Amino acid sequence: MSSARDGFSSTFGVLAATLGSAVGLGNIWKFPYLTGANGGAGFLLVYLLATLLVGLPVMIAEISIGRAARGDAITSFQRLRPNGAWGLIGVAGVIAAFLIMAFYSVVAGWVFAYVAKAAGGGLLSTDPKVTSAAFGALVSNPWQALAWQWLVLGVVGVVISMGVSRGIEAVTKRLMPILFLLLVVIGVRGLMLPGAADGLAFLFKPDFSKITPAVVLVAVGLAFFKLSIGMGTMVTYGSYFRADQNIPATATRVMLADLLVSLLAGVAIFPAVFAFGFTPAAGPSLVFITIPAVFASMPGGAVFMFAFFVLTAVAAMGAMLSIVEVPVAVLAERFRLQRWQATLLSVLTIGTVGSLAAMSSSATADWTLFGLNPFDLFDYLSSNILLPLGGILVSLFVGWAWGRDAWRDALAQGGGKAAVIRILFVLVRWVSPLLIAVVMLKGLGAL
Ligand code: PFF
Repeated sequence: MSSARDGFSSTFGVLAATLGSAVGLGNIWKFPYLTGANGGAGFLLVYLLATLLVGLPVMIAEISIGRAARGDAITSFQRLRPNGAWGLIGVAGVIAAFLIMAFYSVVAGWVFAYVAKAAGGGLLSTDPKVTSAAFGALVSNPWQALAWQWLVLGVVGVVISMGVSRGIEAVTKRLMPILFLLLVVIGVRGLMLPGAADGLAFLFKPDFSKITPAVVLVAVGLAFFKLSIGMGTMVTYGSYFRADQNIPATATRVMLADLLVSLLAGVAIFPAVFAFGFTPAAGPSLVFITIPAVFASMPGGAVFMFAFFVLTAVAAMGAMLSIVEVPVAVLAERFRLQRWQATLLSVLTIGTVGSLAAMSSSATADWTLFGLNPFDLFDYLSSNILLPLGGILVSLFVGWAWGRDAWRDALAQGGGKAAVIRILFVLVRWVSPLLIAVVMLKGLGAL
């Protein structure tokens, strides 16, 4: 509220930081592996629908809540509606942030490790057995997985404690465009491979028989994870938005650009999967075993591969900064910790929980709950339960507690169009809560 509150310094900075939160391992690692494991184009279609019908309205709702209240993920809800327990949405968000970071930092650690391997000239092979063995050796060695994860957390901690506008904005806005270009190059190369057509068909020709209620829930969960919503990240970032920012327009741009990056990653990966005889349903290893094969088959591949993993690491950083910002903002504002103290506490908590995830292919592989090891459990709990639940609650908050007039004013500030706001209100009041609830209950087998 005071002018001393840190914030994003320019319109482009807002767009870059918000996009920096959305674009990350979700596009390059999670989207391809889930699409591969859930049947391809049919899954993609459900994911697109979920993004448009539910994801975008909830994203706009979250940003507007943050900007109107100018507080952290818990405080914002309480400021707008002091009566009731709405602040609990932020509490659930903080828990989701820790769970997501617990496994996200593991995958980011793998990316860092691949940067090092690529720099050393290793990895390049078109043989699925060779690239799978290299990945397996990394993840099944607990010390390596832990060391890379903690390195990642250290870097995240340093950037976060530098502050919002200087730290986050400066890093993300410079490097995103380069990642985009590199994905185009890889995609073009992928399309030239013999057998590329099968990969494209897998990605774009739907087979509806593969779509079950559980698959729909995964697609909805991915839509939330992708847009960084359902856990207070966009509330927190919204609180740094400028007053003259058009929220629906910014969110729509971010959603479209994010989608484009995922599709490019899909085009970069699936033609190669089919051309070299990988299996699309390989799971979390998919990118790590496929991408080296694409590069092995192109001139200058070693250099491109190094650049690819460096830029993926940067994209992952932008996303992680936004996740950790949720607990850091809460600790700094509500509990009056210094920013560096809040960062240290958050990073240590994440590292402690996250170590269980890092060892999920070794020491903690048998520590299962509902048949899931810690890595898979954190992923499942956050994406398929906490984020959709957060989405329902944010929609109910805007649609029923905050109310139409207040929301209209919040969005009109900065230039949201009246007709657009009317449609969005119907979506958040009725469509998203009901749709998400039905998808969750069916997907979890309770309906
Ligand atoms: N959207 C990020 C990605 O797709 O990699 C991940 C993420 C960031 C999830 C922030 C949740 C979040 F709050």
